[in-house]
This record gives sequence, structure tokens and C-alpha cells, in this order.
Amino acid sequence: MKQTFFEKGWRRFPHDPVLAEWVDQTLPAARQAVRAPENARWLRCGGTWFAGVNALPNDTNGAVDGGPPVAGQVVNFIHGELGLSGFGWDPAQLSVCYPGYPRPMDGESDANFAFRRDRDAAHVDGLRREEPGRRRRLREHHGFILGIPMAPVSADASPLVIWEGSHHMVREAFRTVFAGIRPDHWSEVDVTDAYHAVRREIFDTCKRVVINARPGEAYVIHRLALHGVAPWPDAAQAGPDGRMIAYFRPETGNPEDWLSAP
Ligand SMILES: [Fe+2]
Repeated sequence: MKQTFFEKGWRRFPHDPVLAEWVDQTLPAARQAVRAPENARWLRCGGTWFAGVNALPNDTNGAVDGGPPVAGQVVNFIHGELGLSGFGWDPAQLSVCYPGYPRPMDGESDANFAFRRDRDAAHVDGLRREEPGRRRRLREHHGFILGIPMAPVSADASPLVIWEGSHHMVREAFRTVFAGIRPDHWSEVDVTDAYHAVRREIFDTCKRVVINARPGEAYVIHRLALHGVAPWPDAAQAGPDGRMIAYFRPETGNPEDWLSAP
């Protein structure tokens, strides 16, 4: 299981009553966060995507007020098999897609919109695009990405997609980019061109895999894996919560760990 994760860059976990209980107890707070006026700025893509970065008000145990800590098989896998423990859970991202995702955003270029629609807005987390010039730099060092579906949807309702094995290629590319540079200076390096190059290579070589999961199930994505969100076809179905997924992306180490840890 551990080996499969490190080979493919992701793993899904079957229904777990402990995690299902966390979802039940956390959903009211998640709904409230999605509706809160102070979070309205996260609504993007013509109202079809709530990006919700760190929008869930959970504590460092992954618990919202009155709810249980995040736990279950998937958390045991992270602590045990990935060897990551002693970190605080970050406020989870609440990523919600609605029917029609994606629609163009104000000020979005045709090329960027086309990339979102045709290439699932594929990205590696932590490589932040910044002004001036929309150049990218390594600004976050997540240990892993844990995805927890919060509401049932049809399998085609804007699922997460991953390019299987892409984390190996990203690691290779960034080893070259950062060669000879001290890790505490990596955040200053403009990685845009190298990132675009490896992304193109990944599209040509890696298999795009759709990851479906229901509430109570979960998946872990390797922090270096290229991933994205599929468009919402007309036939897809969801309830009023839309396609809501909570993503934990805690920082568990330094830049060197981001690049070199398994
Ligand atoms: Fe992401």
C-alpha cells in the first residue's frame, strides 16, 4: 500500500466509520464557512468554484468547535506509513464546485481559461504565482494533500484528477532548478519556466486518472504530484452543497523535505 502510494503518487482509502463521523460533525461548520460573507471573496469562475483556502475553522487537531479531531485509517497512514507526525493540522481548504464549472473569471485571459477547461487547471501546490509578471516561486512546503469529500455527488461532478507518477518528474525537474542553491534561498528562485516545461512533459507521458470518492472515503495525494479539477459536464449531479471537498495541506517540514523526503 505504501509502495503503491510512492509509485503512483496517490492512494484512496475505503469507507471508514471514524472519518464518516468527522464528516458528519464537521459539515455544519463547513456549510457555514462557505456561506459566510467574509469568505465571499473565494467565489471564482463566474460563481462555479468556491476556492475556500483555509476556510474551515478547525483547530490543529482538525476539529471544528464541538467536533472530533480528524482521524481514521487515512490519518494512521499519514502518521505511520508516511512517517509524518507531530505537525499541526492547517485550517482545511473547502473546495466547492457547482454546476457549469468552469466559467470564465473577470480578468482571466483566454489562455488561462482554456487551460482550466481543457487541462483541468493542472498544478503542483505551493508554487505560487505572484505579481509582477505572474512569475512562480516555491512558497509553501506541504507534506501531503489529504482530500475528504464532504457531500455525495455523481462521479463526473468535477472530480479531482491526478497525473499518475508525475511527482517523480516534478522532483527531478526541481532538483535541477535548485541545484547548488541553499534551501533557505529557494523561495527567491523564479521557477516558472522549469515548471511549465515539466508540466508539458507530464501531459505527454503520464496517465490522467480521475479520483472519485464518497463521504467516509478519502485520498492522499503526493505533495509533488500534478493534479487538477475536471470540468462539470451537463449530466453531472450534486445536492445543494455542490461538490464539496475538504483538503488538509499541512506544512510538515522545510524546503529540503519538500523536495527530497519520500
Ligand atoms: Fe491543488
